[in-house]
Amino acid sequence: MKTEILSSNEIEKASEILRNGGIVGIPTETVYGLAANAFDGQAVAKIFKAKGRPMDNPLIVHICDINQIYDIVDELPDNAKKLADRFWPGPLTLIMPKSKRIPDEVSAGLNTVAVRFPSNKVARDIIRSAGVPLAAPSANLSGSPSPTTAKHVVNDLFGKIDAIVDGGNCDVGLESTVITLVTKPPKLLRPGGITLDELRDVLGKVDVDSAVLNKISKDQKVSSPGMKYKHYAPNAKVVLIKSDRDNYIKYVNEHANADVAALCYDEDRKFLNVFSVSYGAQNDGKSQAKGLFYALREIDKNKEIRIIYARCPDADGVGLAVYNRLIRAAGFEVLDI
Ligand code: TXA
Ligand code: MG
Repeated sequence: MKTEILSSNEIEKASEILRNGGIVGIPTETVYGLAANAFDGQAVAKIFKAKGRPMDNPLIVHICDINQIYDIVDELPDNAKKLADRFWPGPLTLIMPKSKRIPDEVSAGLNTVAVRFPSNKVARDIIRSAGVPLAAPSANLSGSPSPTTAKHVVNDLFGKIDAIVDGGNCDVGLESTVITLVTKPPKLLRPGGITLDELRDVLGKVDVDSAVLNKISKDQKVSSPGMKYKHYAPNAKVVLIKSDRDNYIKYVNEHANADVAALCYDEDRKFLNVFSVSYGAQNDGKSQAKGLFYALREIDKNKEIRIIYARCPDADGVGLAVYNRLIRAAGFEVLDI
């Protein structure tokens, strides 16, 4: 398949492809998404094929106007209204009972649907111009780190999708916060740019799904199918190291080798005797979120690397999202030193 690379001025071209049942990589403020008309089951099925995504993993439906939501859910729950008022447009996905218009391909056979109103202007212009909500997972090959630049999408999906719209670097850098409103109290399924404290500030009690921080066993029932799968994994093995700077540097330098890389804070790099890439500044969760997937992909470019010693982030605020992704990349292996 020929993949067209479009600029962010070619919105009309992108939306025409989408209206005709094609699939297009689009920028959002979180990560790049791979979009299709959410009402067109056949178009949505192409997304699963291109990504190699398991069919039981549902997609997020993206809207550009709050009124669009009434085609997706029959009723907007009160707590959804409150969250939408406060955080939309932005990096928050709400799970609610779905309307009949949403095809099974989108919801993977569940009776719920995930909805997000992105703040990225290019994303919103594309949705508006397409005239329909867009179903979109992250635009990476299933299992690899989510893409935060158009180049990442090219690397993973060129030749497999109709087009990619280049909208520059993603602001947040990690996928949206996902909360289900189907449970009482509502439950955080995936941490992201909107923090747990911010959600609790609006809703009061919010539970945290155990899969956010813990490994789930093979046959365990999960609230969000995406949690079952190994995610965000680069080619090399990631070992997460929980320690202060001195001990981290000491450990990495003691294990220095040509096949070893360090995934560290900006401030650590100058002390390390191995190939190192930083994923953000210490005590700055936002910069870590923005840099993490980019850094994992940078390390992957170095084909010699077999092991990555990653500095464990503080798991508070946005840091909870960074920690959640890193601990998955590390297969839940944490070295406490
Ligand atoms: O920021 C984001 O959310 C990006 C951009 C493109 O919007 N999208 C994204 O999509 O990260 P994806 O498919 O990579 O992650 C969606 C997650 C998956 O873990 C999926 O299992 C979960 O949301 N999900 C979707 N619909 C669900 C539903 N009805 N019930 C439970 N979990 C759901
Ligand atoms: Mg994804």
